[in-house]
Amino acid sequence: MGRIIAPSILAADFNNLGKEIEMINGSEAGYIHCDVMDGVFVPNISFGIPVIQKVYKISRKPLDVHLMIVNPDALIVQFAEAGASIITVHYEVCTSLHRTIQFIKKQGVKTSVCLNPHTPVAVLEDIIADLDMVLLMSVNPGFGGQVFIENTYKKVRQLKSLIESNNPDCLIEVDGGVNYETGKKLFECGADVLVAGSFVFNSENPLETIRQLKLL
Ligand code: DX5
Ligand code: ZN
Repeated sequence: MGRIIAPSILAADFNNLGKEIEMINGSEAGYIHCDVMDGVFVPNISFGIPVIQKVYKISRKPLDVHLMIVNPDALIVQFAEAGASIITVHYEVCTSLHRTIQFIKKQGVKTSVCLNPHTPVAVLEDIIADLDMVLLMSVNPGFGGQVFIENTYKKVRQLKSLIESNNPDCLIEVDGGVNYETGKKLFECGADVLVAGSFVFNSENPLETIRQLKLL
C-alpha cells in the first residue's frame, strides 16, 4: 500500500487558489483534502459546494471531502455532484451512520467516517466492513495549525488491528498537526494517508514538503 499525502487547502492562499491547485496537481500528493465547516459542528466556517465545484474543474487529483457539518445527509448528493471522490462524515453527528454510508455509496463515492479525538475506535466495529477509509482527527476539528494530540498514535494502532481482521483494504487517514516528526510515527503505527495543511502551505517549498512527507 503506497503512502498518500493529502494537502488540506484550508491552509492555501485563497487569493491564489487556482495556483495552489496547480501546485498540488504537479506534486506527489494523492488527494486534495477539502475541509468543509458549518460554524455549528465546529466553531469556524470555511467553504462549501461552490468552491469545491471550482476546485474540481482544475484538479487532477481526487477530492477528499471532509464534512465538518451537523447534517451531512442533506448535502451528500450535492457534494458528490460537485466532484467529491471520497466523502468523510463525522461519527459524532450521524445518528443512522449505516444509512448515511449506504447513501454515499449509492452516489458512486468512496465512504469514510471521521472520529474526533475523544471518540474511541471501538465504535467502528459494526461499520468498518462498509468503509473505504477511516479518518482519525489528531486535533479537535475547526482550525488548521493546532498541536498534534499524542493519544492518536494509540488509536492508529487500534484501528489498524480492527481493519486487519475486518476489512484489510480500508485506509487509515490522520488529520491535524502533521509534520515530519508526527508523520513518521503515524506511518510507523499504520497510517496510510496523512492530511497536511499548514505544514505544507507555510513551508518555503510546498512541492518538496509533500515529496518529503511521502518519503517518511
Ligand atoms: C481541521 C481540519 C484539518 C486542518 C489540518 O479541522 O480538518 O484538515 O486543515 O490543518 P493542519 O495540518 O494545519 O493541522
Ligand atoms: Zn480535514
